[in-house]
Amino acid sequence: MKAPVRVAVTGAAGQISYSLLFRIASGDMLGKDQPVILQLLEITPALEALKGVAMELDDCAFPLLAGIVQTDDPKVAFKDAQYALLVGARPRGPGMERKDLLEANAAIFSVQGKAINEVASRDIKVLVVGNPANTNALIAQRNAPDINPRQFTAMTRLDHNRAMAQLAGKVGKTVNDVKKMLIWGNHSSTQYPDLHHATVDGKAAIDLVDQSWYEGTYIPEVQQRGAAIIKARGASSAASAASAAVDHMRSWALGTAEGDWVSMGIYSDGSYGIQEGLIYSFPCTCKNGDWEIVQGLEINEFSRARMQATEQELAEERDAVQHLLP
Ligand code: NAI
Repeated sequence: MKAPVRVAVTGAAGQISYSLLFRIASGDMLGKDQPVILQLLEITPALEALKGVAMELDDCAFPLLAGIVQTDDPKVAFKDAQYALLVGARPRGPGMERKDLLEANAAIFSVQGKAINEVASRDIKVLVVGNPANTNALIAQRNAPDINPRQFTAMTRLDHNRAMAQLAGKVGKTVNDVKKMLIWGNHSSTQYPDLHHATVDGKAAIDLVDQSWYEGTYIPEVQQRGAAIIKARGASSAASAASAAVDHMRSWALGTAEGDWVSMGIYSDGSYGIQEGLIYSFPCTCKNGDWEIVQGLEINEFSRARMQATEQELAEERDAVQHLLP
């Protein structure tokens, strides 16, 4: 058996974590031969609820669960962590403007970024799930100057998975037949699900659907899927978000399939003309615990306009918290 790795999860008593922690502890994320120590962070008033979650984790008797830490101190939660899933965030309250939301989260993610910088393993892989995920990831990254910026990522895998499922359903296939799905940009309603490179059963996806369906139905439905789930379920997507977080980390840690890629919000190096330093979702392949942006994709005018719109939104979010960035 391998030595256990330390996995920090924030917002550990919340809805997403109630699904996520059990998937991590059962080996879905890092493999069935990799023991884990869960280091769970919550705010003080939620520690009692967290205790209940930890009791249930114990009661599952997961063979791979080598320990549980429960804390309200980021420096305890991130101590020597090799993986961190930053799920806890401040939700938008009544009357709260977008700017207030960005600032409230900037406060949380700057503290967590600093703690990661101070105490986490130098090779930590960070996934930010809590919204606004891309900008929260940027804030955490900027507060952790001693950690390589490539190690901070934001989750667009749920959008990627939603886009695969919607396409497969439309053409009467399964997600197993869909390859090279691609979400560009922000995890928000400006994200751009790009079908120009995707294939279904080896055929170009864009040739299998009408442009009017693509533009008028598919893109908005993928963009608005989160709202549709809240409307139907009366609560936000938690199990599918947790599943996407598991997928994101597993791809990053264990690699992507040959001939395919995944969408990850990552530190832009200027590829495809996207401003350097934004946390932007790109097509990535992963190998040996590292990601690489897929290069050389042809971008038509339709795509370029949408890629720039979501880039613009991310630049505005960054500018709104600029005064809080070191
Ligand atoms: P939730 O409200 O059920 O749980 C959030 C938990 O975070 C709460 O238990 C809260 O006490 C905790 N928390 C708040 N501030 C914290 C801090 N400073 N440190 C540690 N814990 C803290 O929310 P849920 O449903 O679990 O969602 C979590 C986040 O994930 C939300 O921001 C949501 O918008 C986002 N989300 C992101 C998705 C994505 O695709 N990137 C998809 C779905 C949700």
